[in-house]
Amino acid sequence: MRAQEDFFLNVVVIKDADDIKPCVAGDDKCIIENINTVLAKKYEGDESFGLPKLEPFKMDDIIISQDSTSPLAIHLTLRNPLGYGAKDLTTRKVKGFGKNPDGRHEIIIAAPALTLLSDYKIDGKVLILPIQGEGKANITLVQPVIRIRIDATSRNENGNTFMDIKEFRIECKVKRMIMQFDNLFNGDKALGDNINSFLNENWQEIYAELKVPFYDAIAKAMNAAAKQVFKTIPYNEIFQI
Ligand SMILES: *[C@@H]1O[C@H](CO)[C@@H](O)[C@H](O)[C@H]1NC(C)=O
Repeated sequence: MRAQEDFFLNVVVIKDADDIKPCVAGDDKCIIENINTVLAKKYEGDESFGLPKLEPFKMDDIIISQDSTSPLAIHLTLRNPLGYGAKDLTTRKVKGFGKNPDGRHEIIIAAPALTLLSDYKIDGKVLILPIQGEGKANITLVQPVIRIRIDATSRNENGNTFMDIKEFRIECKVKRMIMQFDNLFNGDKALGDNINSFLNENWQEIYAELKVPFYDAIAKAMNAAAKQVFKTIPYNEIFQI
């Protein structure tokens, strides 16, 4: 019985270690599989390679302040935002990640949905309607496709090669954005429901105004996570170079 338990334990451990196989640098197919394995199985984070918790994914507060000439003349603060959906991301394409970490690398990644939950405070005018409130917000991107661009240099240390990330940018296309701001107008339900419907009917105009500060915040958090991973593990241990 004991021996059998040990046997099963060993098989499980070996299988688990086997999930992430070393890829030859530049082997797109292998790299895509590994990124997907990390997202699907390591979303709780893994200190052994510097990976923070991805589900939920912590980001800095997002503060948006637009002047009165903007269609979205608002002050909006999203406090303690948490991102959900990383574990359902799948990689579609990678470029770069060759023998030399110097230069441009790209990852295209998609998910059925990404949701940001946060505390919010809003005040101002959306298109023509006044908006004001404070409470919980849910901002959901439906079918986002994210292009990640990483510009990096290489660094040698004690016989190892490390990737130093210099720039990390993301661009995103979405099918739709769904917003829900609870407790608008001090909890006036009829008014709040009307404004939420209005926001969702006009999501494209709102998305156009929000996307830059929004993606800056997401990119900043992703950059910090990626930097930590590439600082912890030498490039030549992630890839066979
Ligand atoms: C956030 O909004 C999306 C889209 O409406 C919904 O599917 C999801 O269940 C919501 N999440 C929470 C925690 O309310």
